[in-house]
Amino acid sequence: MNQKPNGSWGPPLSKVDLSLKTLFSGYLITIGLGLLMSFAQILLTHGMADGEYGLSVKDIVYSYYGNREGSKLEAKLQGSMKLFATEEVRADLVEWVRAGSPREKWDTEIAPKINENCVRCHSVVPGIPDYTTYEGMTSVTQIDEGATVPTLARVSHIHLFGIAFIFFFVCIIFSLTTGVKPGLKIAAIAAPYAFLVLDVFSWWATKYVPQAAYLTMIGGFGYSSASAFMILTSLWQMWFKNE
Ligand code: HEC
Repeated sequence: MNQKPNGSWGPPLSKVDLSLKTLFSGYLITIGLGLLMSFAQILLTHGMADGEYGLSVKDIVYSYYGNREGSKLEAKLQGSMKLFATEEVRADLVEWVRAGSPREKWDTEIAPKINENCVRCHSVVPGIPDYTTYEGMTSVTQIDEGATVPTLARVSHIHLFGIAFIFFFVCIIFSLTTGVKPGLKIAAIAAPYAFLVLDVFSWWATKYVPQAAYLTMIGGFGYSSASAFMILTSLWQMWFKNE
């Protein structure tokens, strides 16, 4: 008996074999949780770029365009690193940076403060910059011009390859849903890819034109809502829809 509805490449989701339903559900739920986690991670890193909780356009501008009024160290001391030093230490560090981070003050005044407050993370933990040396420290005392081109290229290609894969399976499972209007179905499947490209494009654009940060927000919102819609519809049809 042919179970394929007209125009579909496979059976309706509600009729898929139980073992496949289990596999699909495990995958969709894991990806759903992954999306929530990536959202939390964005809030905790980019979201703190301007020193306040919550993701705002300003955070995105700081991350990609930079804060061209001051150095990265200053921005971080107002942001995600604020908790790690007292106001006094922070003021001393900022004063040193504003004075052009003079070397003669490093050994006597600045290094002891960094050693006490920062090097428990900023020395040994891989992926966190090492501030045990003057050179390491001064890499963040220059004016902050945001993300560099090599960083953007690295993050972009990982993002494009990785996320295209994730969406591929979400979309293929969703394509077996029934009763969704054809136009809506096509739009839902195209949306994550369109918004993903927009998202990555917007990072590069924001590096040069800060207003493009709005596109990053639209991109992220677009592919999160499209995937939430596909994941929830698919799960619902698999387990609760009778055909
Ligand atoms: C508990 C661990 C920890 C401590 C203590 C800590 N940091 Fe960090 N730091 C991190 C992590 C993790 C990151 C990367 C995530 C981020 O940027 O928020 C980071 C990032 C930074 C950055 C940005 C580096 C870059 O190139 O993006 C600066 C600047 C910085 N820290 C300065 C400091 C200073 C100054 C202190 C001491 C007052 C300090 N940190 C204390 C964990 C720590």
